[in-house]
Amino acid sequence: MVQFQRVDCFPNRNGQPTVEGFHQDGNRHVGMLIVDRNNITDDSGVSQYVMDDNGKKTDDLIFNAVIPPGKLIYWNDKRVWHYGTDLKVADANTNGGRGTRDIIIMSAKTPPANMPLGPILNFRSV
Ligand SMILES: [Fe+2]
Repeated sequence: MVQFQRVDCFPNRNGQPTVEGFHQDGNRHVGMLIVDRNNITDDSGVSQYVMDDNGKKTDDLIFNAVIPPGKLIYWNDKRVWHYGTDLKVADANTNGGRGTRDIIIMSAKTPPANMPLGPILNFRSV
């Protein structure tokens, strides 16, 4: 499954990439490609992961970083839970006060034959 997702924010309303909090998507193999981050603060949209313990979320963060545009993160959705922190506008006088983050989520029960498997892959050299 491939899902395109844009989350936006305004000076009076943060954007919420994951309104449900830490969660699992359901399919074992998940890849998230960050396409663009526009007019959001550098500490917005932090990708956070914790381990799964027999169907329950654990507490300690095992990954806590802003993934830049052009990079893809792959994970085993049976082993971890994930969350994205709120998006905050960087400059209220830019882009009509709107900030956005665009991502593509790819997921599968079994990995496609040519899917690269790894923690973080450089998808595009800038
Ligand atoms: Fe998710």
